[in-house]
Amino acid sequence: MNATKRIVLIGPPGCGKGTQAKRIEEATGMVQLSTGDMLRAAVAAGSPIGLKAKAVMEAGQLVSDDLIIGMVADRIKQPDCAKGFILDGFPRSIPQAEALARMLAENQQPMNGAIEIRVPDQFIVERITGRYTCAKCGAGYHDKFQKPKQDGVCDKCGASEFSRRKDDNEETVRTRLGAYHDVTAPIVGFYEKGGILKVVDGTQAIDDVTKSIMGVLGSL
Ligand code: AP5
Ligand code: MG
Repeated sequence: MNATKRIVLIGPPGCGKGTQAKRIEEATGMVQLSTGDMLRAAVAAGSPIGLKAKAVMEAGQLVSDDLIIGMVADRIKQPDCAKGFILDGFPRSIPQAEALARMLAENQQPMNGAIEIRVPDQFIVERITGRYTCAKCGAGYHDKFQKPKQDGVCDKCGASEFSRRKDDNEETVRTRLGAYHDVTAPIVGFYEKGGILKVVDGTQAIDDVTKSIMGVLGSL
């Protein structure tokens, strides 16, 4: 497979964007670009971007387009992105999708595909409230759907410290879902009109979603 592909993963909170982006990165060498992870790193570092984003993220609302677009514009200029990339959590509004199209056009880089991981709302609260990650390497787990092989020990790095996101509570996830439907979902139509939208069924088991996405990638 040609590894210099650029794709977008679209879907509501908990649909599996991060889980699948990490697997695609491992399988293809394309780089995962998660705006949520970038913002959480900025919050942890107390940087100016982090200070602006912290309260908005904790409330489950969307950070301003300008701040996010600037952050992504800087990131995709980094040399590792020449291997191709998987955007996870960006774009999340029509202005962000338009800004991304302009950035790529300036670099004469086509966007190869936009993959919607479709998961109905009724699955989301259980997915989100059961999520936790390894505090050392960031590997993702779930209380019910993705347990480590040995209880309390990370499969990837052997660490035994885990963390849960501050915004992973039922109340905030409902706000995040509202933001998804109101502001983000229109980008599905944006990419459909552009002729590059593919849809996968995100209610399948994690391994089957990966197979579906790898099938789509192979067809791009
Ligand atoms: P972000 O970090 O992007 O959060 P999100 O979109 O709400 O998505 P999540 O990370 O919660 O879900 P995911 O789809 O990655 O699911 P995962 O694979 O972990 O953004 C956080 C915040 O930052 C936003 O609210 C906003 O404030 C801000 N932000 C970020 N980007 C922004 C932007 N572009 N513009 C403006 N603001 C922005 O899976 C979830 C759980 O389910 C895991 O435990 C996993 O093990 C499990 N799971 C995954 N797939 C399956 C499956 N098929 N079956 C069963 N369980 C599964
Ligand atoms: Mg994520």
